[in-house]
Amino acid sequence: MKKLLLSAVLLCAATLSAQTPIYLDETKSTETRISDAMQRMTLAEKIALIHAQSKFSSPGVKRLGIPDFWTDDGPHGVRPDVLWDEWRQAGQTNDSCVAFPALTCLTATWNPELSRLYGHSLGEEALYRGKNMILGPGVNIYRTPLGGRNFEYMGEDPYLSSRMVVPYVQGMQALGVASCVKHFCLNNDEEYRHQVNVVVSDRALHEIYLPAFEAAVKEGHAWGIMGAYNLYKDQHNCHNEILLNQILKRDWGFDGVVVSDWGGAHDTEQAVKNGLDMEFGTWTDGLQMGATNAYDNYFMAKAYADAILAGKYTTKELDDKVRRVLRLFFRTSMNRNRSNGFLCSEAHYEAAQKIAHEGIVLLQNEGNVLPIDVEKTHRILVVGENAIKMMTVGGGSSSLKAQHEISPLQGLKERLAGKVEIDYARGYVGSTRTSYNGVSTKEDLNETRSAAELRAEAVEKAKGADYVILFGGLNKSSYQDSEGHDRKQMELPYAQDSLIVALAQANKRLVYVNISGNAVCMPWKKQVPAIVQGWFIGSEAGHALASVLVGDVCPSGKLPFTWPNSLQEVGAHALNTYPGTWREDKKIIDEEYKEGIFVGYRWADRQKTKPCFAFGHGLSYTTFQISNLCADRKETTDGNINFTVNVRNTGNREGAEVVQLYISDTKCSVERPVKELKAFRKVWLKPGESRDVTLSIDRRALSFWDETKNGWTAEPGEFVALVGNASDNLTCKTKFTLK
Ligand code: BGC
Repeated sequence: MKKLLLSAVLLCAATLSAQTPIYLDETKSTETRISDAMQRMTLAEKIALIHAQSKFSSPGVKRLGIPDFWTDDGPHGVRPDVLWDEWRQAGQTNDSCVAFPALTCLTATWNPELSRLYGHSLGEEALYRGKNMILGPGVNIYRTPLGGRNFEYMGEDPYLSSRMVVPYVQGMQALGVASCVKHFCLNNDEEYRHQVNVVVSDRALHEIYLPAFEAAVKEGHAWGIMGAYNLYKDQHNCHNEILLNQILKRDWGFDGVVVSDWGGAHDTEQAVKNGLDMEFGTWTDGLQMGATNAYDNYFMAKAYADAILAGKYTTKELDDKVRRVLRLFFRTSMNRNRSNGFLCSEAHYEAAQKIAHEGIVLLQNEGNVLPIDVEKTHRILVVGENAIKMMTVGGGSSSLKAQHEISPLQGLKERLAGKVEIDYARGYVGSTRTSYNGVSTKEDLNETRSAAELRAEAVEKAKGADYVILFGGLNKSSYQDSEGHDRKQMELPYAQDSLIVALAQANKRLVYVNISGNAVCMPWKKQVPAIVQGWFIGSEAGHALASVLVGDVCPSGKLPFTWPNSLQEVGAHALNTYPGTWREDKKIIDEEYKEGIFVGYRWADRQKTKPCFAFGHGLSYTTFQISNLCADRKETTDGNINFTVNVRNTGNREGAEVVQLYISDTKCSVERPVKELKAFRKVWLKPGESRDVTLSIDRRALSFWDETKNGWTAEPGEFVALVGNASDNLTCKTKFTLK
């Protein structure tokens, strides 16, 4: 009987496996499965796979049981669902999410492990929401403080952004959710983003604008890359021969999928030949507004199929695209080992708060005004629209429907309830808009009083308060920190400057908390004792800000970009390169990056200007001493060197310091930056505790992009390693030689 049963089972298993097609057989390699799936597919099925069927999905192959592929923004939370064919909200009741801090805040933590946590948490939210790919993170370099989308990116430094992007991608993809790193590349400002043709030296391209993408691909193994809207060498970047075929796919060995930015494809021939793998669109048919069900009109749809049938193209390019897309499916939607994910879990809120705690930057703290001494404080006046305005709604494609967003005022009230009286004055009116793309914050920000009345009220109330905390800055309105346009000026909007000065005169303990993803002019800097950079923090904004202001959390964030005093201190503006020069036909605007590699602190160092706040700057409630820098050798032939430095907490509370190592090439055949960040480490120390920290560099850290060789070169000679806690506070140095 037993024997009979066994043979029945064996027979059954044999029949099953004989029936299991290879592409579904998980014991086979992915490439074998892809080949099998491909040979079963018709031309129409292959074409369908490489372009959108709705705003955010492409069809799988239903006949073969390969499901639809869903993607979504990105990069700070999973965007709420829109209708199939329109940008209007689908009106779901299960698509509220946790809004994580904006990527500028994440990068300001200088803590790659938090980046991993970010990618992991967001990946779990994506899984629960049925999304296979998140459109993010963004790693376009912060080139001008006017950039409308800087808040979505990882700052000005190629090394810092590289270290932060890799774990984000890895954390997310470990769950079977693809990252789509964007916008590749040179999409450094928003104005005329579809028409800007960037003119940049090869050296700046490789040293400044490509490294974060390169790290995401080579180390993070990103499964998706989104092409940028703009042009490079007169070709749109969504189908750009040099960027996509040569650099990304050939030189870096990218085996994932190049996705067009929405509506970023413009031509079938170029889309076929120049490296685009999947076309998505902004308007229904990718060509014009409002036509429905016209995805067939996409450049990689009917036109492509017709051209193949007419013999204009073989299926060589198509098969490469399909192979990549199927690979993406096997990594994500066809991966049976994925979990179901979580939405709005406690762990995700904790992650959001932890990232915010470490990302908030204490820019200035004269006379140790902060942290607020709760025991000795009776009344705090909170001023400013940004104390009450929700910031997760608005700003373009990163807009979210957060399950909750704690405002700064609410956060302080919760934290200090029963201990300190919290008063509020609006102070100014900025934008009273409370909805975006059909999502409403349900706030009422309308105000009938005049600007003068609002100001008078704030100043009057400020007089008797123990502290005045002004939450100002920018918001997500168009022409501020928002997609599609850049800011028009670096100055604060809504006459906030004069309000700040008036409040500073009325109260000696003024704390200014700047809410933005960008630097703003601070002509009143010397009159305001405490300045905090509060970013766009998302769901837990108020809680996190209150924790830092009150001192429950010791600030440890560092600026991921240089904070200039004015636009004239920025290379792009000093050299008058922005926004570029229109060609005669008025269709293309050439923007020449004349400052070359001298972006951010590289420019400030070269010009010997002292910025308002330097790259890497950020204060703490405790103090640290960095000393005893030594190299494990004085000479190297391969460029590898370990540096050890001691860091001691010399204050009286626990805190974290970011030890930063910069390299200076003292003599070189080409002009080098005065110094460049090449390693860093965040260290937590109790009062009095000290630790030796090791920082390693390799040959690439000593190299420049050699335009004569089209590759990296490290020239033998003397280098200097500089270590400290900010780019303008490097207290230790040591020399070494590359043989
Ligand atoms: C943005 C992308 C975004 C896409 C989809 C585009 O306009 O540039 O960053 O992912 O829309 O919403």
